[in-house]
Order: sequence, then structure tokens, then C-alpha cells
Amino acid sequence: MRALLLYLAHNEGFKNLMLKFGVFRRLAWRFVAGETLEDAVRVVKEANRQAVRATLDLLGENTLSLDDAQSATREIIGILDRIRSEHVDCNVSVKLTQLGLDLDAKQCLGNLSSIVAHARQLGIFVRVDMEDSSYTDRTLEIVRRVYTEMDNVGTVLQTCLYRSESDARALVHQGIRIRLCKGAYLEPDTVAFRKKSDTDAGFVRIMKILLDSGLYHAIATHDETMIAATKEYAASRNVPRDRFEFQMLYGIRRDLQQQLARGGYIVRIYIPYGSRWYPYLMRRLAERPANVLFIARNILRG
Ligand code: FDA
Repeated sequence: MRALLLYLAHNEGFKNLMLKFGVFRRLAWRFVAGETLEDAVRVVKEANRQAVRATLDLLGENTLSLDDAQSATREIIGILDRIRSEHVDCNVSVKLTQLGLDLDAKQCLGNLSSIVAHARQLGIFVRVDMEDSSYTDRTLEIVRRVYTEMDNVGTVLQTCLYRSESDARALVHQGIRIRLCKGAYLEPDTVAFRKKSDTDAGFVRIMKILLDSGLYHAIATHDETMIAATKEYAASRNVPRDRFEFQMLYGIRRDLQQQLARGGYIVRIYIPYGSRWYPYLMRRLAERPANVLFIARNILRG
């Protein structure tokens, strides 16, 4: 089921079919703040009121033209200005394929540099999301290059990939801040663990590398076992609660977000917005088949 949904995340025919169903669109608003920056800022403010920080993601990936990549860059720079003018506790997350990685790596590097430079003037951090494993090398290369000039940029590692433990050691050595997650893409077993238990074991191993590094990293998961392991390890190594943060996705386990924030941990939620929400929603559905049954039941009922 997971593999099928992740395959359909890039299928235009299926997308056009699903967009005809109101229930599919309605489910999107559980995971996506809305279509406009106004909607997103409203959700950021609501999170901040609950002592939860935010990171904003302008949805859109695999941009098809360099003009589109440039307009996405301008739009993200606009988000940074809005974050400052609203005085909200928020940073941004970006995807390199939205900034033109599939089309021209040099221009993509230029676009990311413009965003990070603007963010730096405003004192805002920029997180480069990690896409599927065909992009890992290129993403790390571009992040490293930008980081040598500006240190307000970091990236993401996925514990489903065999390579991530060694990537974590190398990035930490360079001082680059990491968001650790399990990985949301369909990967071949030449590069990724098949079994959830192996991905989870990798998560714990890499979490320890991150917490031991002395840098400020993000542990991104809704998995209570991973969260408990992180809390326990941090306590055993005397890593203070303000030296790392937990991150979760908008619309998932709000109870747990609140519980952690009330327990004195730093919590940040990832808030996506924009009209290009289809692949993002499909990845969220792939993580939880119960969401798919909900849609199927509603469609069958007519
Ligand atoms: P797991 O999938 O084991 O889920 C644990 C529990 O969480 C489930 O039992 C359920 O209760 C709840 N849950 C998880 N997903 C749910 C869903 N969709 N709907 C309802 N409940 C759900 N991936 C990536 O490849 N590149 C990236 O850059 C990022 N960025 C990122 C940022 C942030 C802040 C988060 C939290 C996650 C990502 N991810 C990501 C996604 C990540 O790789 C992973 O797919 C999801 O976080 C789900 O994995 P969990 O760690 O939550 O565990």
C-alpha cells in the first residue's frame, strides 16, 4: 500500500481523478495550512500561542522551468520578510527541486544562496528538506557550499538510508545542523532498509551522534518510542532541553506536541501551505493507511 501511494504521488492521471473528490480535498486541509500565506501565518500564530515554534514550507517540488524556480525563490524571500514583520517564532524549509535542482544545479545553488543570505540579514534559519535518494548527494553538496559562506542553513537526514549514519558524522564534523527523520520516499533496497525496525534502530544510533555533537539539531518524529529514546539519552548525557528540538508535522499528534512543550522541550511544527499540495498529501497518506480507508469509505458512500 505504501509503495503504491508513493508511486501515485507522481502520477498525473491519478491526481486529476482524486482532485474530483471533495473528501480528498478536505483531507488535505488536515495536513496543509491552506492555499495562501495568510492561512499559513494564522496557523503559525496559533502554534506560537501554544508555545510551539514553526517552520513554513511553500509547497511545490520538481519545478519544471527556471522561471518557476526563480519565482519560488522570490516567494520564499517574501515569506522571510513576513516572518519578520509579524514577529513570529518561525523559520523556513525549502526543497531544492523547487529551486531548480532538476534543471540547473548552479542556478539552484544561486537561488538557495539568495534565500539564505536574505534570511541571515533577518536572523532566520533555513532548513533544506531532503527529497528521494537520487537527490541526496546533490543536496548535501549544495548545502555544504552555502554553509561555507553562511551558517544559518542546515539540512535533513533520513534514517531509512544506509548512508545516513556516515553522512551524519561528516555533517556534524563540519558543524552543519541536521533534522533527523525516518524518510518519506519510496526507496530501492539497494540504498534503504526494508524493515521498519532497522530504520528505527538507525534513528536511535544517529540521534545519539547528533546529541553528542554539541550542535543544535532537530529530532523529527511522531513515534513515541523514538521520542522516549531521545529524552532518555539527552538526560543520561546531560544535554539540556534547550540544546535540541523535537519537530512534528502540522495536523499530526497535536496532543504529543503540547505534552512535550509543557514538559519544557522545544517543539517546532512543520507547516506546509500552497496550492501544490498533492504529492505532500500522498506522502502523508502513505505513512498511515487508515487515512486511505477513510477516503475510500467516503468515496464509495458517494
Ligand atoms: P512512524 O511512521 O513510525 O509513525 C509513528 C506514529 O506517528 C504513527 O503510529 C502515527 O500515530 C503517527 N503518524 C505518522 N505519520 C502519520 C500520518 N501521516 N498521519 C497520521 N498519523 C501519523 N521526510 C523526508 O523524507 N524528508 C524530509 O525533509 C522530511 N521532513 C520532515 C519534517 C518534519 C518536521 C517531520 C516530522 C517529518 C519529516 N519527514 C521528512 C517525514 C518523515 O520522514 C516521516 O515520513 C514521518 O515523520 C513519519 O514518520 P514517524 O517518525 O512519525 O514514524
